[in-house]
Amino acid sequence: MSTDHLNIEVKLHPVPKCLLDSSTNPTPHINSIEQYKKLYEESIKNPTEFWGRLANEHLTWHTPFQTVLSGGFEHGDVTWFREGQLNASYNCLDRHAIKNPDKVAIIYEADEPGNDRKVTYGELLRDVCRFANALKAHGVRKGDTIAIYMPMVPEAVVAFLACARLGAVHSVVFAGFSAESLRDRIQDASSRYVITADEGRRGGKTINTKKIVDDALKECPQVERVFVFRRTGSDVPFCSPRDVWWHEELEKHRPHCPPEIVNSEDPLFLLYTSGSTGKPKGILHTTAGYLLGAAVTLKYVFDYHEGDIYGCMADIGWITGHTYIIYGPLLNGGTSVLFESTPVYPTPSRYWEVVAKHKITQFYTAPTAIRLLRRYGREHVDKHDLSSLRVIGSVGEPINPEAWEWYNEVVGRNICAIVDTYWQTETGSIIVTPLPGATSTKPGSATYPFFGIDLAVLDPNTGEEITSTEAEGVLAVRRPWPSMLRTVYNDHNRFLNTYLNPYKGYYFTGDGVGRDCDGYYWIRGRVDDVINVAGHRLSTAEIESALIIHPAVAEAAAIGVPHELKGQCVHAFTTLKPNCENTLTKDLILQVRTSIGPFAAPEKVYIVSDLPKTRSGKIMRRVLRKIVSNEVDTLGDLSTLANPALIEPLIEQVKNS
Ligand code: PRX
Repeated sequence: MSTDHLNIEVKLHPVPKCLLDSSTNPTPHINSIEQYKKLYEESIKNPTEFWGRLANEHLTWHTPFQTVLSGGFEHGDVTWFREGQLNASYNCLDRHAIKNPDKVAIIYEADEPGNDRKVTYGELLRDVCRFANALKAHGVRKGDTIAIYMPMVPEAVVAFLACARLGAVHSVVFAGFSAESLRDRIQDASSRYVITADEGRRGGKTINTKKIVDDALKECPQVERVFVFRRTGSDVPFCSPRDVWWHEELEKHRPHCPPEIVNSEDPLFLLYTSGSTGKPKGILHTTAGYLLGAAVTLKYVFDYHEGDIYGCMADIGWITGHTYIIYGPLLNGGTSVLFESTPVYPTPSRYWEVVAKHKITQFYTAPTAIRLLRRYGREHVDKHDLSSLRVIGSVGEPINPEAWEWYNEVVGRNICAIVDTYWQTETGSIIVTPLPGATSTKPGSATYPFFGIDLAVLDPNTGEEITSTEAEGVLAVRRPWPSMLRTVYNDHNRFLNTYLNPYKGYYFTGDGVGRDCDGYYWIRGRVDDVINVAGHRLSTAEIESALIIHPAVAEAAAIGVPHELKGQCVHAFTTLKPNCENTLTKDLILQVRTSIGPFAAPEKVYIVSDLPKTRSGKIMRRVLRKIVSNEVDTLGDLSTLANPALIEPLIEQVKNS
């Protein structure tokens, strides 16, 4: 037993013995805490040697690098492996396909159970080459930014890697985003090409993917070509010559396309994510550093061994899908499961059927799914053979100890390693995590930093580093790591101001953190206006901007509220313009759905006569949060409130709603 920073008893779970038993399991790459500590120390003392060695071991280079790291946080000019040249798709495909063309790269588990399909390295390479040739024939060149808006089908993987083969930059937009969100991202990245599908299928429902694209493109005149993959075969609007069919294009081209050799620091992809203002940021990742982070974290955090079947349940539209469905597994020559459905379709047994059917060895999902399945009950898990599992992971939000214990006991049957992995779109790969064969775990703690990650806990008020072992503050990183973002697309100052300027000399994560007496890290959640709804990252400002667009809305304030299953959900407060009193809250919820996407829809919208504001007109969201959480006794300092008479009626209204 040990204690966390609040002196609450926390159970320490040692590494399960059977994981270290070489008669039943492969010997873990890191099989003791001493080995972790030794390597970690080496990675911090001698980062150049450490990362240089790993880069040569894990990546295949066309031209070797000479300088491991240059630049730093002070000027925001970090580069890794700068003279090096390579190609991402070569590293993911060719080098494995040449040796082992029949090895399965992707297991596609379609929405409809029973419709699974295996794609080998040989097949994937041929398709990527044919599609890359098609892109090339339509004018795609190195450095072009291509929007990908696709369901979870193997062709989406082909699209990623075909872009990478040409040195084009993919900008994937999660297929749950609305037409407006897609339009904003296509415009911001100046994409002239879009890759999409006729329709998507998820949880038995059909998604009008192509129609959403058409709506988005009404205001994107620069888009020259839309490649449409046929997923369902339904009749969809088709606009020649702008639109071309994927299958017709593929038929034209030979399955050989020499990879475009790029520099280590050439961009590999953009991925938009929410920050604390309304406009999403295009997080830019470059080639070599990102690939290295993906390859080594997949190997060590999930203790990947040859022959494993790796199953990450995320969507390719988020960073988790980029790094742990596509790049990480393929860089290691592994077999990756691409899961198109939901944890509860057609029944709450779906995940476990998939694990048993494909003999998944590493399984990775989000706390929101774990909480949901826990509520359905263990009988849905128990009837399936989960004996193939060795490592089960969690990502995206803090996992509460009850959900952790359930995951460990019911899914992991106390014999699997549980890895609660902390990272961000910006970090590119996992930065705080247990290692399966080495780290004793504490439910709710992401435990220790990954190799090369030099963590610091800062006092948010003074910016000073808290050096005592036990600490509470904000989480920062003291030095660059290879897979970190390099900039915000077209807005380098925003990159500096968001991540590097708040605390000079550090990368600021935006998360609160505690460090306990054993040096374990406990992520507390965001300290900015970013909220996390079922693992989806949103900003309150983004939701407010969506509400303001509604013609009846005068002002809006959105807040994150704790939610049993989703972790957090959105509540919004609005005031209406004169003569708009008949507006219905359901119309306002619909406004957010169409503006951002269904996953952003507020759980509740309150139409109020006024919002609590300071005398200078700033909305006091803190007060709204307290009222909704029924903590009205601790509303805090209200002396700056311009309109104190409003508080009592507001409390009543929320209580009665
Ligand atoms: O608040 C942290 C939370 O998710 C944020 C990053 O969100 P996103 O960029 O969408 O990436 C999610 C998948 C990597 C972080 O700032 N977060 C992520 N993982 C954890 C977490 N919070 C607590 N524990 C985690 N394991």
